[in-house]
Amino acid sequence: MGPLQLKYQLPLLLLLVASSFFIYLKRTPPMDTSTGTQLRKMCVTGSNGSVGKRVVLRALALGYHVVGVDYSALATADDFDPGSNSSFSFLQADLRDYNETLKAGTFRTYAQVAAVIHLAAYRQPGDYKVLVHNSNVVISWNVLRAAAELGINRIAQASSVNAITLVYSQEPKFEIFPIDETHPTLPDEPYGLSKVIMELQAALSAVTKDMRVASLRLHWSVPSRAFAAQNLDHERAKNDLWGYIQEDSGAEAFPTRTSEAFFIAAPETTYDGETSELIEKYWPNVPLKEGKTMNGNAGFFDCTKAKELLGWAHNPNLGAGSSN
Ligand SMILES: NC(=O)c1ccc[n+]([C@@H]2O[C@H](COP(=O)([O-])OP(=O)(O)OC[C@H]3O[C@@H](n4cnc5c(N)ncnc54)[C@H](O)[C@@H]3O)[C@@H](O)[C@H]2O)c1
Repeated sequence: MGPLQLKYQLPLLLLLVASSFFIYLKRTPPMDTSTGTQLRKMCVTGSNGSVGKRVVLRALALGYHVVGVDYSALATADDFDPGSNSSFSFLQADLRDYNETLKAGTFRTYAQVAAVIHLAAYRQPGDYKVLVHNSNVVISWNVLRAAAELGINRIAQASSVNAITLVYSQEPKFEIFPIDETHPTLPDEPYGLSKVIMELQAALSAVTKDMRVASLRLHWSVPSRAFAAQNLDHERAKNDLWGYIQEDSGAEAFPTRTSEAFFIAAPETTYDGETSELIEKYWPNVPLKEGKTMNGNAGFFDCTKAKELLGWAHNPNLGAGSSN
């Protein structure tokens, strides 16, 4: 080989080596330097939202590489700056579009997504017409279908306590207190309906695609009980059954390998007095489940199933904002 040939071939060779190195880097999961193992990858939809931020922080703390997906630009706040964490990547995508949803599952191709936490949705009925229902059920189906397509079989999605008739309902109807997962879910408004439908979509995926999809029926996600009590609308509280969930404790329930639906609520109400007073005054015709008592300020939701199957129990002391 003459010196002239070498002069041209060497840079070409170096370029080839460098580009294969970058391809290797792109396809190789980042290492957890503390354990020397490769980071597991988790996709969190709705990562900019109030629940999403807490879930992202929780997943990062558990050692996942998190891909946040949201249709708004990456959010930051004093207590939330995941962009500065090398274990976090962000994709701006509209999950109402199936192809964008698929893209979210394959974003940064260095590793297979091990699990999806699906939170992106409208969180209230809005104008009670079509936007909220139609968007929510399309997004949830896109996420489940894309996960099935990509071979991701672990999903936890945010349902809501509004899967039963509750604060947004024209007429809340409770069959029995405390409320557990055997209570009928027959909402009379589009937001709750979208949650019931997403739970059905999950059940179908579990049967036909052998996926594990947990649907977590969160109550009002807030920094602390004190915050909830301060911001309580007393008229509405009656139809919300004075419930809440400390936001970081709620986030803890998501990284799960389980299927089915679970209520996720604090075991006490936001009301300082006796729960029996509330029942007597506001819901005198709702019977108590046989063998159950609701002493002190016991909450209206029985989360025994979450405790038994998810190992989850409410921890009011999580998070910087907890004062109660
Ligand atoms: N916050 C609560 O108290 C509460 C209680 C029960 C259930 N939930 C459920 O938890 C989930 C998260 O609620 P939140 O309070 O964080 O809501 P949020 O409105 O704060 O956040 C939702 C996020 O989803 C994103 N999003 C909406 N549509 C999208 C789309 N088409 N594509 C991509 N991203 C989209 C929004 O940009 C937003 O950042 C929702 O499913 C909600 O129904 C919330």
